[in-house]
This record gives sequence, C-alpha cells and structure tokens, in this order.
Amino acid sequence: MNYDLSVDLGERSYPIFFRPHGQDELAERVLGEAKTGKVIIITDKNVGPLYAQGLADSLRNRGLRVALLDFPAGEPHKNLDTVRRIYERCLQFGVDRETPIVGFGGGVVGDLAGFVAATLLRGLPFIQVPTTILSQVDSSVGGKVGVNLAEGKNLIGAFHQPKWVLIDPQCLATLGIDERRAGLAEAVKHGALADADLLDEIAQNADALLNADVDSLMKVLPRAVAIKAEVVSQDEEERGVRATLNLGHTLGHAFEADCGYRGLRHGEAVALGLRAILQISRSRMGLSLRAEERISAALDALDLPSSWAERMRPSVLDRVDLDKKNLGTSVRVVLLRDIGDPVVVAMPRDEFKEQVSALAGVKCSSEVV
Ligand code: GLY
Repeated sequence: MNYDLSVDLGERSYPIFFRPHGQDELAERVLGEAKTGKVIIITDKNVGPLYAQGLADSLRNRGLRVALLDFPAGEPHKNLDTVRRIYERCLQFGVDRETPIVGFGGGVVGDLAGFVAATLLRGLPFIQVPTTILSQVDSSVGGKVGVNLAEGKNLIGAFHQPKWVLIDPQCLATLGIDERRAGLAEAVKHGALADADLLDEIAQNADALLNADVDSLMKVLPRAVAIKAEVVSQDEEERGVRATLNLGHTLGHAFEADCGYRGLRHGEAVALGLRAILQISRSRMGLSLRAEERISAALDALDLPSSWAERMRPSVLDRVDLDKKNLGTSVRVVLLRDIGDPVVVAMPRDEFKEQVSALAGVKCSSEVV
C-alpha cells in the first residue's frame, strides 16, 4: 500500500514519504538533492550516533562531501547561540546555495535546522527526517521553523517549507515510551480536529502504538499527518484554518511554561489543555458528551495525564496573558462544536480565565487572595 502524502502549495508543493526501514532510500533521495556534491546534516547528540552517522557514512560511500553537525539534545539548546555555532561550521565546510540541509532528529532539531536553512545565504534547500512521534505527526510538516528566546518559545522564526519529509517509524523503537505517549497526544488532537475513526483506532491499539509496533504506527501516522498536510495546504501562513491546529495548546503552553518546561512533556501538557478545552466546548459550543468521551477515551488509553483541574493554579492562568497568539485583550482559543468541527474564538482573556477557573474551582488571578 502507498501511504505517501503531499502538501499542496503550488510550486512549493512537497511529498511526505512513509518508509519503515527507509534508510537506504533516504540516502538515495538525499544524493539526488546534492547538486554540488555536498550536504549538511544537522542532528543532536542522541540521534547522531543512532541514525545520522549511518546516513553520513552511506552518503560518503556514495561520493558526497558531508558535514555532520550536532548539538546537545533538548529544548534549552534551541537558541541563537547554537544557530551561530552551526552557521560558522556550515561556512567552514564551504556551504553554497545548492547545499541541502537535512534536519535529522526530533522537533528541536527540525525547528533549528530549518531555521538555519531558512536564513543562511538567504535560504537553502531543506529536508526533514523526523525521528520522534511528535515531530513526525506535527512539527516536520508545514514549514514552521524557529528558535527560542529567554522570553519565550519559538519567538524567532520563519516559514520555510522542506523539499520533502521522510518518516521512518522504525526510528521510534529507540525512543522512550513516555516520549511516544506524549507524541501520540498530537495524533489525538488531529483526530479530534478531523477524523473520529482515527480516535477509535488510537484507543483500540494504544498498547501496540506505545510499544512502537510498526504496523500499528503505519495505521495511525499517515492518517494523522494527512490532516496536518491538508490544513497546511489550505492555509500555509496561519491566516485562517491553520490556527485550529492549536487545539489544546493555549492552556497546554501555559501548563508547560508554568513548570519551567521541566516535569511535563509538550504532548502531556497538550493532553491536559485538550481535556480542559473539551469541558469548555461542552458548555460554550454544545459539544456532546459522546464526542467528549470519544476523544477522552483515546487520551485515557494512552494513559496521558487527566488532572488538569488539580494542576490549574493562578500562575498557570497568568501565563495565558503571555500567549503569543493573543490579540489585544483577547485570547484566540480553539473550541470544538463536534469532532471534526473546530472553531477559533476570540475571547476576552478575563472571560476565558474566569471560565477555566470556574471549571477547575480555582481563583483566576494571583492578585486575588
Ligand atoms: N503545530 C502547529 C502548526 O504547525 O501550525
């Protein structure tokens, strides 16, 4: 069966290849992009020895000059210091405007490598090889690239679409089970946005998915990515429907930031945010109990956290004020009328915070004692 997808953006359209055991094909495809005989692979110190070194060796065996550039793994390194070091190493290597940059790793690697590709020499060809579920179902598709500032995540960035994306679910075998669980939260989000059957598939096969069973992953990943690809094809720069991909993220980001990005993975925070939004959607949008239960069943089967109300502190709500999607005094929040029927609502921030507080049973401002 052919699972390949495409993101349709006119001249910048690109394919997404799903390839279990796809490392040979990956090398062949990269070779085809290296028009001046050079390629730069950007990875981190975890993925480098596991996979990217193998790609570098196999490209060198095929006669290419390869720079394999790594940096320490983790979100704290997704910053301008790392970018500057990578720029310097690319220039020492002799990068030219036809040299492709391969981002080989999870979301941090893809975002940073893509930012380098978007900016160095005013733009280089970019290839995404995501190796976590989170990056496979979400961040590797759609061209959002960027780095963090001390003031917040992803505050500097660009849209720079890849030439193609190659997803090898076999790479997920070396990922920790908690990382797989957190990544699958984004697949549940995509199901809630557009595909009720995907939710049931995840709920029924949660154990196999968590254990990185490739056949089960191949039933879920292409469907989850298809939803993202369709949304990006309609609205590349988030002027409309793409904002629905932020379902669960307004409060998710607030939970994540409140614990200093330690102790809660991004997908776990999104699961908490999504559960809260389901309740708000029930009261404001008439989301049915049946629909809420169908989405929650997938989150529960994956054993994603549910204690959003217990974790809701005034300091979490204060974070909503800093959300970069805020417009004036309003917060843009994604609610669901039904599975497959999201709506972006601009709500006065105070009203949103009061509603969350009422549902969670907390006071809504740290200034209120
Ligand atoms: N992760 C949301 C987006 O790519 O728009």
